[in-house]
This record gives sequence, structure tokens and C-alpha cells, in this order.
Amino acid sequence: MKILVTGGNGFIGLNFIHAALKNNIHVTCIDNLCYSTKLNIDDKAHKDFIFIENDIRDKGMYEFIKKNQFDAIVNFAAETHVDKSIHSDIGFISTNVYGTHNLISICRILIDDKALPKHFKFIQISTDEVYGSLNKLDKPFTESSNLRPSNPYSASKTAADVLCISYWKTYGFPVIVTRCSNNYGPYQYPEKLIPLAFSKINKNNKVPIYGDGLQIRDWIHVDDHCEGILKVLKNGRLGEIYNFGGNSELTNIECVQKIIEVIKPNEDFENYLLFTKDRPGHDRRYAIDSTKALHQLDWQPKISFDEGIKSVIDWYSENYEWVENQINSKKFIEWEEKHY
Ligand code: NAD
Ligand code: TYD
Repeated sequence: MKILVTGGNGFIGLNFIHAALKNNIHVTCIDNLCYSTKLNIDDKAHKDFIFIENDIRDKGMYEFIKKNQFDAIVNFAAETHVDKSIHSDIGFISTNVYGTHNLISICRILIDDKALPKHFKFIQISTDEVYGSLNKLDKPFTESSNLRPSNPYSASKTAADVLCISYWKTYGFPVIVTRCSNNYGPYQYPEKLIPLAFSKINKNNKVPIYGDGLQIRDWIHVDDHCEGILKVLKNGRLGEIYNFGGNSELTNIECVQKIIEVIKPNEDFENYLLFTKDRPGHDRRYAIDSTKALHQLDWQPKISFDEGIKSVIDWYSENYEWVENQINSKKFIEWEEKHY
């Protein structure tokens, strides 16, 4: 199988490429490198991997997709940081909405012209954030829950998600949408809570906690998410939406406490918390019901948070140079000064 992965220099895309290569899938990756110039997969060392710096908004994607005859496209490319979308949202609308539209409209024309393989499919990596926020006692989101995004990031992802579904309904466009909960794992950029907490605690600094820190996220190890996407690629039904959740609901304080307990086991975790102003429009709770993925794809998360977080902290410790490169980059320093 030969696939195009967009946004594959990012956190989940990169982990997915590793998983796909292990499954003997030939991967071409495009990424505009808007976060990191450092490639984490050596395209010369992997015979089944090609990297091309490009943008999903590029009109030239038409010729590129036509020429390469991919069996599938997995679209990870997105602007992904909620806080950044609150400061400035235009890039989010441009990449997440227009960029996704560019890809699916090109593929639709190519399918109409019979210029793509018959079995071609487009997998849109969406997010549980499209559902908005839950109260403490609400049931977890299912695929048919209402969509109520709360911030420009989740609104732009919702637009892309429903646009994809509209293409299925209107044109029979062969799309599958996945909506996953909060991922953690190797190569996550330190602007997100878990790697940010690691880098702060490691330097004996406090971790910024927005508001009361009692917001709940359902954490999933990125390997579990990638396994779900591989199953969608092989057995997912066209036009369907699949939720993936980690069955690991934690408040932000509990999440950071667990990280402190691994890195500084003999210290009082509360000394490492710095309560700050809350995020505007902050979703209170996410929780995901993945029953459909279990029944249709035989998928369920395998890695518990306690087990997963230990291995991820080991990875960050062993790859400290990668973390340092990120937190010492001009972009990251400017972001911290502006935001915190
Ligand atoms: P990330 O920010 O680490 O990676 C996104 C990648 O997309 C980056 O490498 C970036 O350079 C690339 N990119 C951005 N704009 C582009 C453009 N115009 N053209 C080409 N490449 C572009 O994000 P991530 O956490 O790996 O998320 C990947 C996908 O998974 C996103 O679509 C996100 O919405 C979704 N998702 C993320 C989570 C999570 O917890 N991180 C959960 C559910 C879904
Ligand atoms: P984040 O990793 O940005 O993911 P998302 O906003 O997509 O859920 O944040 C996870 C949670 O952690 C979210 O409730 C916001 C909170 N948070 C903080 O309390 N402090 C921080 O510095 C960051 C980055 C996030």
C-alpha cells in the first residue's frame, strides 16, 4: 500500500509514519515545517519513505497526487494549539479549513476523472474537541453527539470535519473521519501540557495551570491512536466517523501530579504548580465513547496512563536534546513571553 501522510513532521503524524513503515506501508510525507525544521525520520535511511516540504494549500497538489497514485491520504496537517488560535486564528482557518478543502476538492476531481485508484480513500484526522465541553456527570461523546466547538482551533477542525462528511453525502467522496481525545507521547511539541510540564519540572520550575486546574482531559497514548488509524486505513467503512478515546480521564492537576511523581518522587507536587489566568472558552471536560471502534474495528486503547506516562517521560529524558532544541527555539521563546 502506498499512502500520502500530510503533516507528518508533527507529533502524531510522525508517530503514525513509524507505525505505517513497520506495517510495510510505503509513505510519502508532506509538511510545510511550520513548527520544526528538523526532520525526525531520515528519508535516505528508509527505502519506503519519502519526505517533501510542501503545503496542503498548494494548488500544485493536483499534479502531485495525480502523478503518485496514492491508495490513501491521511490528513494530519493542521495548526493545532488552542492557545495560539485564541491569540491569532487566521492560520488555523487557512490551513485547517482551506487546506483540507484544497485536498478533498482536488481528490474529488481526480476521482471523477478516474485518475486515482478505485479503492482510494481519504482519512481526515479530526478531534474530540469538535464536540465541545461536557459536564462532570454527562455521558461521554459518541459519534452522533452534537458538535459545539468552543474556540477557533476546534471550530476550524469542525469545519473541516463536516466539510469532509458533506463530500461523502453529496458526492460519495470516499472519506473516513476520526475523532480522538488528547494524545501524549514522543515528539509532542512542548507548547502542549504534558511535554511543557516535563520541561518545567525537569528544570525545577513550576508548571502553569490555567484556572482551577480541574478541567478534565481523556489522555490516550499516541501508539494507541496510531493503531486505530491503521485499522481505519485497512477496515474502516467509507462515510463513517470513528471516535478514539483513552479511557483515562484526569483533571489537569492530577495529570501534572502524576508527571511530578515520576520525575521528583520525593517532593511535594503542589510546590510545582503555578495557578494562572484561565484560558478563555476553556472546555471543562472531554470524554470519549469508543464503542463503535471496538465493534467495527476491533480497536481499544491498550496503554494505561500510568504505564504510558512513565515510558513517555523516559523518552523525553533520553531525547533531552530534542526537547531543549524546541524550548530554546526563537519561536518557542517568543510564544512563552507573549502568552505566559
Ligand atoms: P502538530 O502541530 O504536532 O503537527 C501538525 C503538523 O502539520 C506540523 O508538522 C506542521 O508543520 C504541519 N502543518 C501545519 N500546517 C501545514 C500546512 N499548511 N501544510 C502542510 N503541513 C502543515 O499536531 P499533532 O498533535 O500531531 O496533530 C495532528 C493532527 O491530529 C491534527 O489534525 C490535530 O487536529 C489532530 N488531533 C490532535 C490531537 C492531539 O491531542 N494532539 C488529538 C486529536 C486530533
Ligand atoms: P493542551 O495540551 O493545550 O491540549 P488541549 O487544549 O487541546 O486540550 O492542554 C491540555 C489541558 O491543559 C487544557 O485543559 C489546558 C491545560 N493547560 C494548562 O493548564 N496550562 C498550560 O500551560 C497548557 C499549555 C495547558
